[in-house]
Amino acid sequence: MKLSDATTGLSGTMLEQVALKEESLDGYRKFWDQAASVDSIHAIADQDTPESFEVSGRRDADAMWAALPERDAAVLEIGCGTGRVMQHLAGSYREVHGIDISSDMVEQGTRRLAHLTNVHFHHGNGYDLDPFADDSFDLVYSTYVFQHVPKTIAYNYLLEARRVLRPGGLLCLQVPNLLDDAQFLQFNHFVQPWFVEHPYPMYFWTPAEVAQLLSKAELWIEALDEKMVVLARKSEEAGPLALELQHSLRSELSGLTSSGRIAELERQLAERDQQLAQRTQRLADVEWQLQRFRGNPLIRVALAVRRAALRGRR
Ligand SMILES: C[S@@+](CC[C@H](N)C(=O)[O-])C[C@H]1O[C@@H](n2cnc3c(N)ncnc32)[C@H](O)[C@@H]1O
Repeated sequence: MKLSDATTGLSGTMLEQVALKEESLDGYRKFWDQAASVDSIHAIADQDTPESFEVSGRRDADAMWAALPERDAAVLEIGCGTGRVMQHLAGSYREVHGIDISSDMVEQGTRRLAHLTNVHFHHGNGYDLDPFADDSFDLVYSTYVFQHVPKTIAYNYLLEARRVLRPGGLLCLQVPNLLDDAQFLQFNHFVQPWFVEHPYPMYFWTPAEVAQLLSKAELWIEALDEKMVVLARKSEEAGPLALELQHSLRSELSGLTSSGRIAELERQLAERDQQLAQRTQRLADVEWQLQRFRGNPLIRVALAVRRAALRGRR
C-alpha cells in the first residue's frame, strides 16, 4: 500500500468528526470536549458497549487496588474521564478524586457517579494539580492519558504528582512503548493518511524517556514492564531498580550516540593494540629460542646426520 492511498482511520465511526484542530491547551480541551459529546465510551476506552466499558474499568481498578491495598487511602486520577475506573475504587478507598481537562467529561462523570459520595470530579487547566494541597494523596494514578499529552505537559503532571503525594506515596501510570513490536503496530496505525488529515493526539514513549522524566521529578521507579505500566514512589532516595535504570540509561546513551560509540571503538582499538604487542613479543621469544636450539652443537650434528640419512635413502 502506498502511503498516499486512502485509509479508513476513524471514518464511519462516531469519532470521525473529532480531530485536533490546534496544538494548544485550548485545542486539546476542545478535542476532548467534542470526543466526550459524540461518543465518550469509545473515546475513553475504545469499548463498544456500556457493559464492556464497565468490565474494563473494573480490571483497571483492580490493578490500582493491587498496587495499594489500603482502605484508609485518598487517591487521585489524572485525566479521569467520566470515572470509568473511579467508580470501582469508591468502595475500596476513603476518598477518590479525579481531574480532567474536559468540562464535558467532568459533567458526565459527576452525573453518572452522583450516588458515590466519596467520589469527587474536578475540572483542571490541563497541566497542573492546582486544586489539591501538598502531601494529600496516597496514590496518584493515570490510565490512557499520558499517551494523549505532549511530554512537556506529562512532565508537569509528574512534578505535580510528586507535590500532592504524601511521602512514601505511589504513582501508577502507563504509556505505549515505541520499542515494543506489538505496540509499534499501533504507532503505525496513527501514521496512516487518515490521521495525517485528522490529527489525533497520540504520543509513544521509550522506557528511557519514562525513566528519565520520572527520575528528574524524583519519583523513583519500583516497577516498569515492557507494556510500560509504571509504579513509582515519592521518597527521598532512589531505590535499587531506579538506580539500575539510571545506570543502564547512561551506558545505553553512550552506546547509541556517535561520541559514545567513538569512545567505545577507541577503547576496543587500544585493547587490540595491547593484544598485538603481546603476540609480537611472544613470537620474538619463540624465534630466539629457535636460534638457540639451532646453534647447539649436538643439535647441529643430529641435523647433519638426518640430512645424510635422507640423501642415502634417495
Ligand atoms: C482515553 S481517556 C481516559 C479516561 C480515564 N483515564 C479512563 O481510563 O477511563 C483520556 C482522558 O484524558 C483527558 N485528558 C486529555 N488531556 C488531558 C490533560 N492535559 N489534562 C487532563 N486531562 C486530560 C481527556 O479529557 C480524557 O478524559
